[in-house]
This record gives sequence, structure tokens and C-alpha cells, in this order.
Amino acid sequence: MAKSETQVGIIGGGPAGLMLSHLLHQHGIASVVLEAKNRSYCEERVRAGVLEHTSVEMLRNAGVAERLEREGLRHEGIELGLHGRLHRIPFVELTGKAVTVYGQQEVVKDLIARRLSDGGDVRFECGEVSLHDLEGSRPWIRMEKQGNVDIVSCDYVAGCDGFHGISRSSFPSGALTIYDRSYPFAWLGILAEAAPSREELVYMHHERGFALYSMRSPRVTRLYLQCKPDEDLAEWSNDRIWSELHMRLGCSDGWHPTEGKILQKSITGMRSFVVEPLQFGRLFLAGDAAHIVPPTGAKGMNLALADVHYLAEALRAKFRERDGKRLDAYSATCLRRIWKAQRFSWWMTSLLHLFEDASPFDRKRQIAELEYVMSSRAAATALAENYVGLPLD
Ligand code: FAD
Ligand code: PHB
Repeated sequence: MAKSETQVGIIGGGPAGLMLSHLLHQHGIASVVLEAKNRSYCEERVRAGVLEHTSVEMLRNAGVAERLEREGLRHEGIELGLHGRLHRIPFVELTGKAVTVYGQQEVVKDLIARRLSDGGDVRFECGEVSLHDLEGSRPWIRMEKQGNVDIVSCDYVAGCDGFHGISRSSFPSGALTIYDRSYPFAWLGILAEAAPSREELVYMHHERGFALYSMRSPRVTRLYLQCKPDEDLAEWSNDRIWSELHMRLGCSDGWHPTEGKILQKSITGMRSFVVEPLQFGRLFLAGDAAHIVPPTGAKGMNLALADVHYLAEALRAKFRERDGKRLDAYSATCLRRIWKAQRFSWWMTSLLHLFEDASPFDRKRQIAELEYVMSSRAAATALAENYVGLPLD
């Protein structure tokens, strides 16, 4: 059995865990990141693609945005589509801010490389991770690695292990209030080897269901189709996918997505989920371990980064200034931002998707709302300021 000590034990090496470890290092605080999967799995997993202005600033201030600034695609707006016609929401004109398209796995690659070059302790392939003595002064983490048991004792534990991790379930029963909402649809996501044929993302309302046109690089397009939550991927041949994309995304001005080799297909369920509070004893939850948003507002990875910004600041104040006020306020501080992002993600989802059980009144109201956002500067500004990211308070 191997034993080691650190100041902060971090469960999970996604964007939240890695960024927290990096920020703590910059504050002179030691941490160990314990990740269940291997390095290449973490670096290849295709997920989020849009970084808020706020996240880009955070990564830049933390000195980990060099490649992001070189390769990220700056987007100064998005397009909303209705009845085959597109209407641009000009973020920079409305808010002075833009967003950046840069794959989550690129953020993860940059953070892993930086942690390792700074001598950070990032351990991959940790199995059977469990948390102990969370209410005592010295919690400890047990894990199995290559048949051996490892124990890490620490001052604090950060649960950054995503929605399916063990941190949230380490809270005693009754300690958490769960707010959960599921939606009667999912997204079929496609990664295609095709040069993007449109400069900005297209969020299209369509009577056959919502479609999203996005991208990853000058050579790779990312597309999504609203589908049933229990959709069988095997029923989606490449021909059916392209035909559906052309039907939903095709525009009256003749634009339609360019086809290319389909590199990956997957189905993602849609839910809104929050637990409160984010703290139990010396365990603090951050990112998807604490909350899930439907992806329509592009908020998940951004919220994870905002959480660890607050957690790193609170731990800095505690370790360096012996001031625990921010740590005590961590949960409430994060939840204020989380609920604003939940509201926005729910609103974008409700605005753009086809709800099969909607009444004729609801359908008319939905179209009126979309037309309002497309015609009112005030409504477009409200969308834009949420999409580019509310300031960190
Ligand atoms: P994760 O990225 O899930 O990382 C958690 C890590 O913990 C993982 O590496 C996991 O392997 C590890 N782990 C799990 N269990 C254990 C354990 N027991 N022990 C040790 N390690 C463990 N967000 C956006 O902001 N913009 C978007 O455009 C966007 N699009 C999305 C599209 C799709 C299709 C999906 C699925 C998600 C999207 N999201 C988007 C959401 C975003 O990907 C997540 O919110 C983000 O990954 C959260 O980061 P995290 O670090 O909290 O969790
Ligand atoms: C993506 O590119 O994966 C993406 C973009 C915008 C969203 C969701 C996902 O709202």
C-alpha cells in the first residue's frame, strides 16, 4: 500500500479538475489529480466546443491560452434560423464580446501538458476511488492502481469527476437537495470531415426538429439533430443523417451544410440538473459533478471553469491568508451563477426545439418569441450577454 499527502485531492481530470490543479499550483498550493481513464481517452473525447469570453479570459490570465489564441476560431455572433431564414445575433456589436470555438479535448490536452511540464501530480487509470473522513480535519482518498492500493491524505477534496463520478454520491443521504428536469428529446451529434461552409454557428428551429450547425476547425464540422431520447443509432445511416441535415438546415438563400466523411456519431440526452449545497465537510463539488445543463446554451464546460475559479480563490484565501470566508461561501457563490446558466440553457432549449406535446397555443407562442428575439435589439442583447458569459462576480 502506497501513501502520499497533498493539500487538495482532486477527483477527475476533466476541464474542472485540471484547471483547478493548475490554478492552485499558481497560488503555491499542492494538489493530486486522480483520473479514472487513461490519458489518451481524456484527450480524445469529443464534447463541448464553445468557450465564453469569460472562459477565454480566465485561461489567458492563467497562462494556458497560447494554442487557444493561435488555433481557436473567434466567433463574433451566431445565427438563429426560422422557416429557412437566418437572422444574425451580433455579439460584439451588442456586448463588445465574442466567443471562441475550441474543442474541449484541446483545452484538456493543453491543461494536461501544462500540469505535467510544471511537475504536477496527475494520476491516470485510478480505479475504485473512494472518499473517507470528509468531516474530520484530514480526509483521505483510497484508490486502486495496477493492482495496488494507494491512499492520499489531504486537507480538502475537490469532486470534479463529472455527472457519473463518486464524489456526489459520497454525500450522506439527505444532505443534498436535487433539482432535476429531463426533456422529451436528445441530440444526435455528428463529427464530419468537411470544411465549414458557414462562418458562424446556426441554431435552426424546424418543424422536423431542431438542428445545430457548428464546427471544430477549418476542416471539421460538428452537427446536431434533435432526435428521440431512446433513438437507436443503428437506424441512422450516413445517407439518412445528411438528408435530414439538408432538410432542416437548408436555407431559402440556397445555403446548406457541406457533406464529408462522418468521423463519429453519438446520442446525448438532455437534462437540467443541480444539487445543493456543493459542500459537505471538506468535500467541494465542481462542474458536471454538481450540475448538468442541456447543451443548447453551450454552457457546461464554461460553468465547470467558473466553479473552479471560485474554488481556487477560496482555497488561496484559506491557505495563504487563513481566511475561510470564501470557502464557506463557495456553494452559495457558485449556485448564483449556476442558476443563471440553468435558466439560459433551459430558455434556449425551449425556444428552439420541437415539443411534440405542445398545444397549438404553445407553438404559436414559441414562434412569436423567436421572432421577437430576431427583431428586438433588447431581446437579442439578453441572449448575447448570456451566451458570451456573464462576468464573474
Ligand atoms: P468531465 O469533463 O465529465 O470530467 C470528469 C472527469 O472525471 C472525467 O475525465 C472522468 O473520466 C473522471 N471520472 C469520473 N468518475 C471518476 C472516478 N470515480 N474517479 C476518478 N475520475 C473519475 N459545454 C459547453 O460549455 N459548451 C458546449 O458547446 C458543450 N457541448 C457539449 C456537447 C456534448 C455532446 C456534451 C456531451 C457535452 C457538452 N458540453 C458543452 C458539456 C461539457 O462537455 C461538460 O459540461 C464538461 O465536460 C464538464 O467538465 P467537468 O470537468 O466538470 O466534467
Ligand atoms: C458544439 O460545437 O459541440 C456545440 C456548439 C454549441 C452548442 C452546443 C454544442 O450550443
